[in-house]
Amino acid sequence: MRGKTVLITGSTGGIGKETARGLVALGARVILVGRDPVRARQAADELGAGGGQVEAIVADVTRLREVVGLAVRVAERCDRLDVLVNNVGASPPRRTLTEDGVEVTFAAHVLTPFTLTHLLLPLLRGRVVNLTGGIPGGPIELDNLQAERRYLGWTFSQYNHTKTMLMAMSLRFAEKVAGTGVTVNVAYPGHGHTPMNQSMRAAGFPYVYRPIVPLLRVAAPRLFGDLSKPARSSVHLASSAEVEGVSGAYFSMRCRRTDWPASALDRRNQEAIWTLCENLTRETVRK
Ligand SMILES: NC(=O)c1ccc[n+]([C@@H]2O[C@H](COP(=O)([O-])OP(=O)(O)OC[C@H]3O[C@@H](n4cnc5c(N)ncnc54)[C@H](OP(=O)(O)O)[C@@H]3O)[C@@H](O)[C@H]2O)c1
Repeated sequence: MRGKTVLITGSTGGIGKETARGLVALGARVILVGRDPVRARQAADELGAGGGQVEAIVADVTRLREVVGLAVRVAERCDRLDVLVNNVGASPPRRTLTEDGVEVTFAAHVLTPFTLTHLLLPLLRGRVVNLTGGIPGGPIELDNLQAERRYLGWTFSQYNHTKTMLMAMSLRFAEKVAGTGVTVNVAYPGHGHTPMNQSMRAAGFPYVYRPIVPLLRVAAPRLFGDLSKPARSSVHLASSAEVEGVSGAYFSMRCRRTDWPASALDRRNQEAIWTLCENLTRETVRK
């Protein structure tokens, strides 16, 4: 990765920071993104302590104007971007809107990767890696894309729903950029004991999982404390020669190519999500 520049959203903590650590170790210049200036500076200092090239930009990427600002600042610092990792996640316990009036998990998992990738296309020369999560693969509810009808159910969660939508959107994006040298793939990280998981209360889970949440709380630090494991699939997709030129593919936590869920492959779903993203960013993204 020497001579290559990587941008990772949500990378001043959690899985994103470990992904950054892995790519710095491979020699990449890494630009971190987080909301908190102190955590951002500390993360850049920590990851750059061994002589690596690490810098940080402060932005809340669930806000469209900050996504635009981030893209402008990246363009000021780099004449090319080799890898973009859309890593930011969100999981509020109930339906919440951003300042743009967009449902938060839809913003974090679908609209932000859509917008940031579009805005950075003029700089991008290589790979886009989008992170799915939870239990993706259920049906995409076209009348409930922003959880207008339901946010949580017996097995349903808007978190899983938006991660499945991200997969559908990624497939459509891979098609859009085919032949340009830019690739778009999706990584499944697996579980990590991260700030997001630590802050999730039982009330934020689908009803059937709530009884096991206290058990998870106790076991998670021991079972899922090593965040280098959930960072593996992103590091692989960002750096491995094995995936050079591969696009429109889905990789498991063991870095193996795996099948897409049927709902992500469904053209009608892809088009509905793409159209909604276009409508929500009409002012922001030149298409
Ligand atoms: N953890 C898991 O078990 C798990 C499992 C499957 C998939 N995933 C997915 O993996 C990705 C990373 O998960 P994680 O658990 O590491 O997340 P996390 O704990 O929320 O990550 C924390 C990092 O993200 C930054 N961040 C959060 N919201 C942001 C925003 N709106 N704008 C900019 N930065 C933001 C935080 O910055 P500040 O400190 O400044 O707030 C911090 O650097 C997510 O897409 C998640 O859905 C996670």
